[in-house]
Amino acid sequence: MNEYQTVKGGGNLQGTVSVPGDKSISHRSLILGSIAAGTTEISGFLYSEDPLSTASCLRKLGVKIPEIIKDKPFEIQGVGLEGLNEPKEILDCGNSGTTMRLMMGVLAGQRGKNFIMTGDKSLSERPMNRVCKPLRLMGGTLSGRENGNKAPIAIKGEQLKGCVIGTPVASAQVKSSILLAGLTASGSTSVIEPASSRDHTERMLKAFGANIEIRGELGRNVVVKSGNDLKGQEILIPGDISSASFWMIAGSIVPNSNITIKNVGLNPTRTGILEIMDVMGCNYKIFEESIVAGEPIGNINVKTANTLKPFTIQGDILPKLIDEIPILTVAACFCGGISYIKDAKELRVKETDRLKVMTRQLRKFGAIIDEREDGLIINGDGKFTGAEVDSETDHRVSMSLAIAAILAKGTSKIYRASASNVSYPNFWNDLELLL
Ligand code: S3P
Repeated sequence: MNEYQTVKGGGNLQGTVSVPGDKSISHRSLILGSIAAGTTEISGFLYSEDPLSTASCLRKLGVKIPEIIKDKPFEIQGVGLEGLNEPKEILDCGNSGTTMRLMMGVLAGQRGKNFIMTGDKSLSERPMNRVCKPLRLMGGTLSGRENGNKAPIAIKGEQLKGCVIGTPVASAQVKSSILLAGLTASGSTSVIEPASSRDHTERMLKAFGANIEIRGELGRNVVVKSGNDLKGQEILIPGDISSASFWMIAGSIVPNSNITIKNVGLNPTRTGILEIMDVMGCNYKIFEESIVAGEPIGNINVKTANTLKPFTIQGDILPKLIDEIPILTVAACFCGGISYIKDAKELRVKETDRLKVMTRQLRKFGAIIDEREDGLIINGDGKFTGAEVDSETDHRVSMSLAIAAILAKGTSKIYRASASNVSYPNFWNDLELLL
């Protein structure tokens, strides 16, 4: 609790940054590379705590993943769909929900092998039944605390059977877990989501040669048929729009700012923040757009906007900006008028209860926020005074509070600021560079 960063309010942000690799794609590159046949070459990998947890689990399962060095491409040798070993050790997923949930899907179908997965204090309180239940429908044997809802989770690998599964929450982690289980299940496995979540797994599975089909209204139905082996690929991971979002919002609000963010992933299932920035009236442009390894990318330039309008976030857009709600909450405090965040119950089961934590911490700056069961009502008065705030161990809260502190009058201290290492280890250096 002693560790903190000091941020002086009132600066402006100028310059160019390259945000680190996309977290979701980094996890998937390791997982698919491991269960493919042959070599997978990975560049642009996010060298941060969460994806490194995935690498460490896969090594314990017998995959040869070299020591990963920041900014250096590397190769992994896949072991094939059923080639993972029963590990001698417990698989520690650290803080990473993506590691635990996606790996549960992979391991549930590893016939005759047993696995135990655990995580840190935060992850051990996050709901796992959303994955255990559909995997059990497929014939999986999974157990854990609270009837399989909480880690540690024990898995006994089984021959799974394909099913049609409707998920009650639009979650890419749940969808991906089921699809990964579908690779070794008999027949076809079909997932139907209530709204479209990020589709990185589907794109990557297609590139690796899986028999996968996107169907239904707005692609909410994904079907994978077993029988195809995956083939190792070359993967170029774009920058993470969720990490870029801190600069996109800071650049829009902090006076006299002009920030260019290079090589940002612009997958349409992730760009909800741009739709909200349009409503706010932000001054940004996207240029040098291209497609890299099946994912759209581009550079984003953001300049301070004249006046910002309030916004409402609700319904199907939620999965497209789920990780950006903390920074959009900060933004709403400067949007002159009342902004609403609705249908956002999922925020309560992230690394922290982000509705509660953002309300508690932003109030210390003087923010006027009302917490509702499924969202927030935020007054856009924009009068922040420097404060002592705490990330409460949540990476996205830490970085959102840093931007809030720049917008405050006076100096602030952000305790447990290094939580940002989970997804953006260079965040505090990049902030210094831009200030
Ligand atoms: C992720 C999906 C999202 C997101 C998380 C990463 C993924 O979680 O919040 O940071 O890589 O699939 P949910 O699937 O739980 O919404």
